[in-house]
Amino acid sequence: MLYRRLGRTELEVSELAYGAARGASQDPHGFIATVHACIDAGINFIDSAAGYDGGNSERTLGEALAGQDDVLVETKYCPYESYRVGAAYVGDPAELVASAEESLRRLRRDHLDVFLAHGMRTLESLDRFMSDGCYEAMLGLREQGKVRFIGISELSEGDGTHEVLKQAVPSGAFDVVMLTINLMLQTAEETVIPLCGAHDVGTVVMMPLNQSSGRSGLTSLPAALELVRHYIAAGQLPDEPPYTDADLLEFLEPYPVPEAAIRYVLSHDVSTCCVGTRSPERLQANLRAIDSPYLDEQRLRRLGELFGRIRWQAF
Ligand SMILES: NC(=O)c1ccc[n+]([C@@H]2O[C@H](COP(=O)([O-])OP(=O)(O)OC[C@H]3O[C@@H](n4cnc5c(N)ncnc54)[C@H](OP(=O)(O)O)[C@@H]3O)[C@@H](O)[C@H]2O)c1
Repeated sequence: MLYRRLGRTELEVSELAYGAARGASQDPHGFIATVHACIDAGINFIDSAAGYDGGNSERTLGEALAGQDDVLVETKYCPYESYRVGAAYVGDPAELVASAEESLRRLRRDHLDVFLAHGMRTLESLDRFMSDGCYEAMLGLREQGKVRFIGISELSEGDGTHEVLKQAVPSGAFDVVMLTINLMLQTAEETVIPLCGAHDVGTVVMMPLNQSSGRSGLTSLPAALELVRHYIAAGQLPDEPPYTDADLLEFLEPYPVPEAAIRYVLSHDVSTCCVGTRSPERLQANLRAIDSPYLDEQRLRRLGELFGRIRWQAF
C-alpha cells in the first residue's frame, strides 16, 4: 500500500480508502470481516456518516475498530432533510454538535479524525451553513479536540461541475473535501483538484465507480455500457458510434472496468480513492489497482476524448 498526504492535515492516508456506507445491518459479520481485510491490506482511512444505514455503519465500525486506534475515521453531519438533490436545508448548530457526539459514541472514539458537512448541494445552502452557526459549531468541536480536521462533501448528482467546492476550497474554511471524480464524470480534473492543490486541501474521492446500481455503473463491462446509454438518453453523449459500439471500452483491457476506474482516479493528484464494497473478494480485486503508474497517457487521453464533455453524475 502506498500512502499520500491528506493536504494540510499532514495525515498520511492509504491511497485506497474504504467507504463504509453499506452492509452493516444487512450482514454485520461480513461488514466487520471486510473492515478487517481492509486493515490487513494497509487501508488506514475509512469513511462513514451519521446517516449511513440509520447509524449502523458507525455502530458496527466502532465494533470492528476496537483496538485499532491507528485507523483514521471520517464521518459526517448532513444539514438536509434527506440525500435527495432537492431536499430542504435544515442545518442547526445544536443538532450538528449532537450528531458529532452521537458519532463519537457509536464509533467508540474520543475524537473524530475528519468531520464533514455532508452533501452540500447549492451555493445558497453553503452560505447558510457558513453564517447560521453550523460552521462555528464545527470550529468549536475542533477547538475542544473532539474533531481533528473539518471538511465538506459535495452532492455530485446535483452539482456535477462542483460549484460548491469551487467556492468552499478557496475560502480556506475546510481542511478536507470529499469530491467525485470518475472516468465518466471528469469535471474535477481542471477545477477542484488544482484548487485543492493550490490551497493544500486534502482530497478524498467518492463514487469512483459512479455510485453504481446493480445494473448500471463502473462495476462490469455490461453495467458500464448501460451507464453510457443513460448518458446518451440524458443528452450528455451523442447517440452514435463509438458510444453505441459494444467494443467502446475495449481499450481499457487488460484491466476489468472497476480496476480501470480506480486506476483512473489514482492517476490524479488526489489524496485517496474511497471505494465501497460489501465483499472481501471485491476488495481484493480493488487492491489490484494500487499499482503505480496506474493508467498510461494513451488510455487517459482516450478517456478524456470520449467522456470529458459529461457534466452530470448519472446513477
Ligand atoms: N456526498 C457524499 O458525501 C457521499 C456520497 C456517496 C458516497 N460517499 C462515500 O463514498 C464511498 C464510495 O462511494 P459509493 O460506495 O457510493 O460508490 P462506489 O464506491 O463508486 O461504488 C460502490 C459499488 O460498487 C460495487 N463494487 C465495489 N468494488 C467492486 C468491484 N471490484 N467489482 C464490482 N463491483 C464493485 C459495490 O458493490 P458491493 O458492495 O456489492 O461490492 C457497490 O455497489 C461510500 O461508501 C461513502 O462512504 C459519500
